[in-house]
Amino acid sequence: MIKKVAILGSTGSIGQQTLEVIDLFSEKFQVLALAGGRNIELLEEQTRKYRPGIVAVMDPERARELRLRLGDLPVKVLEGLEGLCEIARLSQVEIVVMAVSGVVGLLPTLEAVNAGKTVALANKETLVAGGSLVMRAAREKGAIILPVDSEHSAIFQCLLRDREGISSLLLTASGGPFRGYTKEQLRRVTPREALRHPNWEMGRKITIDSATLMNKGLEVIEARWLFDVDYDKIQVVVHPQSIIHSMVSYIDGSVIAYMSVPDMRIPIQYALSWPERWNNNWPKLDFFALREITFEEPNVKNFPCLDLAYQAGRIGGTMPAVLNAANEVAVKLFLQNKIGFLEIPRLIEETMGHHQVISNPDLGDILESDQEARQRVKALAK
Ligand SMILES: NC(=O)c1ccc[n+]([C@@H]2O[C@H](COP(=O)([O-])OP(=O)(O)OC[C@H]3O[C@@H](n4cnc5c(N)ncnc54)[C@H](OP(=O)(O)O)[C@@H]3O)[C@@H](O)[C@H]2O)c1
Repeated sequence: MIKKVAILGSTGSIGQQTLEVIDLFSEKFQVLALAGGRNIELLEEQTRKYRPGIVAVMDPERARELRLRLGDLPVKVLEGLEGLCEIARLSQVEIVVMAVSGVVGLLPTLEAVNAGKTVALANKETLVAGGSLVMRAAREKGAIILPVDSEHSAIFQCLLRDREGISSLLLTASGGPFRGYTKEQLRRVTPREALRHPNWEMGRKITIDSATLMNKGLEVIEARWLFDVDYDKIQVVVHPQSIIHSMVSYIDGSVIAYMSVPDMRIPIQYALSWPERWNNNWPKLDFFALREITFEEPNVKNFPCLDLAYQAGRIGGTMPAVLNAANEVAVKLFLQNKIGFLEIPRLIEETMGHHQVISNPDLGDILESDQEARQRVKALAK
């Protein structure tokens, strides 16, 4: 049976790898819609190749330009957040791949879930900011959320065997490019150095998040919502080789680990093939070539973002949305060379400190807290 797919964020790292998977199994998929932020050159190329009936561009000016460029094709070009939302709820679409970066994914994800779609979710910021809303809507509408993030795909697959008797989820972390650095060294690191991840090639925002360990913090909150497990039962283990993508430990002392080469196409393919497994020709794990696999505790003194995420998650309500928004702005400022690396956690902590938490927030509360946090970080950074 052909799966009808929409990809939001098709021009990004996950989006492009999703299309690679689709290329490999082209007889199994039909791409009905694509969406991107600003890169209309690539979106045009993708539209000419996959012939979706609808595309959306976040930036309205760029959307107008794309409309002109695609004038010879029978394709509708939508714009703005409403365009992304319209694609997410398209009646013919069965699977929505949510691969935009940032909390901008929240509304389209809610649209997809409310329309009862299967969502292959890469965008972690959505569950961090609005996990309670998204999971509640998914339960009510019977929508399936399949994790694309490699750690969550790993846990999802470990749990296929046994959901009872879990003692903890063990999320592995590479430790990023600055593992072992002192505070003094971290003070001087540049965006260019932070963008050099040892094991993964990813978008700029998540690469910086990996360097600060905020990525792992966001994943802890994501795991709490995806697997309905308390924060006390989610532990982070630094594993620099990124071969074990996460583990589940059980009350009898058993631990089930999921391993593969670090290649995002594998969890993307699994989210698209689930509940089946499909054959591919990509490099497989060669145990005799593995020299070592090692583990260590995360250094939360030098990388406080991980603890800030645990704190925000435990406080709950609107606090995780504030953590996420403050982080998005701080990362942008760092990438623009306006603040130093160590300013990122400092600004997030101060912003969280100013926030009046709303428990059981609705969508409006979350979006308002997000905006308030963005303004606060900008003011503090000045
Ligand atoms: N990359 C990975 O290996 C990886 C692994 C696990 C999870 N994730 C998660 O997956 C998501 C995407 O990551 P990525 O690495 O693929 O990021 P990326 O390469 O930066 O791509 C981001 C995508 O989102 C679009 N986008 C950015 N800002 C937008 C906005 N304001 N409105 C609409 N679209 C916007 C971009 O469009 P344009 O480029 O056209 O502007 C692009 O298509 C993130 O949430 C990340 O945490 C990524």
